[in-house]
Amino acid sequence: MKILVTGSTGLLGSALLNQLSSSAYKIKITSRSKREQSAPFEWVYSDLLSGDGIEEAVKGVDVIIHAATSPLKNSRIVEVSGFGEFLGKIQHIKHFIYPSIVGIDEIPFKYYKLKYEAEDLLKNSSIPHTIVRATQFHNFVEKSFLSKPLFKRYIVPGNMKFQSVDVSEFANHLIGLVDKGPQGRTDDFGGPDILTLREMAELKIRINNETNKVQTFSLPGELYKSFKNGKNTNDNQKMGKITFEDYLINKLD
Ligand SMILES: NC(=O)c1ccc[n+]([C@@H]2O[C@H](COP(=O)([O-])OP(=O)(O)OC[C@H]3O[C@@H](n4cnc5c(N)ncnc54)[C@H](OP(=O)(O)O)[C@@H]3O)[C@@H](O)[C@H]2O)c1
Repeated sequence: MKILVTGSTGLLGSALLNQLSSSAYKIKITSRSKREQSAPFEWVYSDLLSGDGIEEAVKGVDVIIHAATSPLKNSRIVEVSGFGEFLGKIQHIKHFIYPSIVGIDEIPFKYYKLKYEAEDLLKNSSIPHTIVRATQFHNFVEKSFLSKPLFKRYIVPGNMKFQSVDVSEFANHLIGLVDKGPQGRTDDFGGPDILTLREMAELKIRINNETNKVQTFSLPGELYKSFKNGKNTNDNQKMGKITFEDYLINKLD
């Protein structure tokens, strides 16, 4: 069985490769820049924006785990129109695994709307697939909101909620889906706890023994309200075991 991992340099792509390196599957990977060490994987240059390299990337592949994404730049093309063209070139694929995000149908955020459109494209295609929505990754939330204290303060929209999940557990879940075969839209994959950003910042300060403080603010508008109301969480699908606290402690090692 040959698996193609797109977006192999990203948060999810890297976690997938860590685990696939010891698997019996044959692995092909794409990114727009060659990794220093792509071996033991077969690397193919491929760009969803221009379409370059896609035919070569999907040749001889049985399963695709699609971790390529571009939330900020040319997102409509990469997530939707380029994605649609990509789907047109993979009619031979036995299983296409699409990682998505919890709450994208309810949260008024452009990237999420595009991902929802992409889910629809996939659902309406003849490609056997699995769509699995995850909550935000621990490292994504930390990097987005808690990486740079300003004047010894984490200044954050403190009431936003996250049910963050460890990317390694989500990667493991996706790899497990390979042998299960196409499931259509499957259960969400959420982290073990739902925390506010204030609580996450306080945890980081405590675990790392920092002298920083937390300063919170509110934002107007529906987007902030969606995160405040936890539309990006799923209380019934606490699938991950590694908490945000565990993630921070593991980083100390
Ligand atoms: N981050 C989260 O918290 C989270 C939560 C739930 C679900 N997800 C989903 O998981 C998937 C992976 O997310 P991630 O956070 O791992 O993303 P990421 O870290 O931003 O990585 C994105 C990857 O896409 C590649 N890429 C960017 N533009 C491209 C293009 N034009 N053509 C081809 N490849 C391109 C990048 O590789 P190169 O630049 O090397 O080409 C990179 O490897 C996405 O579908 C995302 O929606 C993410």
